Amino acid sequence: MIIPASALAQESTGTSPGWTFAIHGGAGTMDPDRMTEQQQADYKAALQAALDAGSAVLDGGGSALEAVRAAIVILEDDPKFNAGRGAVFTWEGANELDAAIMDGRDRSAGAVTGVTSVRNPIVLADAVRQDGRHVFLSGAGAEEFAGDKGLETMPPEWFATEARREALERLKAEQLSAMDVDHKFGTVGAVALDSQGHLAAGTSTGGLTGKRWGRIGDAPIIGAGTYADDRVCAVSATGAGEYFIRVGVAHEICARMRIAGEAAQSAADAVMAEVKELGGDGGVILVTPEGEAVFSFNTAGMYRGRADSNGLNEVAIFRD
Ligand code: GLY
Repeated sequence: MIIPASALAQESTGTSPGWTFAIHGGAGTMDPDRMTEQQQADYKAALQAALDAGSAVLDGGGSALEAVRAAIVILEDDPKFNAGRGAVFTWEGANELDAAIMDGRDRSAGAVTGVTSVRNPIVLADAVRQDGRHVFLSGAGAEEFAGDKGLETMPPEWFATEARREALERLKAEQLSAMDVDHKFGTVGAVALDSQGHLAAGTSTGGLTGKRWGRIGDAPIIGAGTYADDRVCAVSATGAGEYFIRVGVAHEICARMRIAGEAAQSAADAVMAEVKELGGDGGVILVTPEGEAVFSFNTAGMYRGRADSNGLNEVAIFRD
C-alpha cells in the first residue's frame, strides 16, 4: 500500500528527533571569478527561498515528502535552474523534463522522463508514486497520466529561456559538449528528515544541453540520482548522469551505510570518488535518520543549502 503524503505527518512515533533538510541546484565549474556579485546573490536568494519553503513544511510538522516537493516546485519554477522552467534544450530544440521522488518509509517511488508540458514534473512524479501501479512513466504516456490526474500544464514558451537556447546554438555551432556551454549540471534536488523520523528524496532536471535520441539521465532513475530508505539515508544527485547511472550512486551510498555501517560523509565521498574514477563529475546531498545533512561533490562548486530544527540554516555555492 502506498501511503499518501498528507497522511505521513499525522503518524507520530511519540518522540521528536527534530527535522533536517537539504537542497541542491546543480554542481559544476562555478568560480567566483566567473560569477558577478549580483549573480551570486541571485542564486543564493533562490536557494534560500527553496530552503525556507521546505523548512517551513518540516517546522510545521509536515512530512519529508511534502517538504521535498515544496522546495523542488520553487526550483522548477525558477528559470535560473535546469529543471521545469529554464530547462536546457534537446538537440531538436525542445525541453524534455525528468523527475523522481521517493518515500523512505515504504520505499514507494514515482518517476517520469521526457515530459514536455507538465509545469512541475516533481508533482507528476509524486502522482505516479501515489497512484502506485507503476514507478516510471515516459513521454506521451506520462503526459496522458498527468492529464488524468488534472495536473497543471504550460505551453512550450513557459519552459524555454533565451540563455538556454543560446547555449544549444553555441554547442551546435562550435561542436562543444554540454559542460562546455553550461559549466554546470543544473539539476535540482531535495532530501528531508521529518520530525516523525521519516526520510524522502526528490530530483528534477532538464538533463543535458543537446541531448538526443531520447537520452535519459540519472535523476529519474531510482537508485542512480534519487533514493530514500528510512533505515539509512535519503540521497539526491546532480552531475553527468551517465556515470551516476553506471555507479548506481544514490543506492550505493545507502547500501554502504546500511550493510557496512559506513558513516554518511565517508560513504558519499567514496561513491563520488568512484564516479570521478570513471570520468564523471557532480555531487550529492543526503540526510540521515540521525539528522545529519551531508554534501559531497567532486566539482568546483555546488549550489546547495541545508537547515535543521536546531537552527542550522545556510546556503553556499563554492567549495569553501
Ligand atoms: N544529472 C542529470 C542528467 O544527467 O540528466
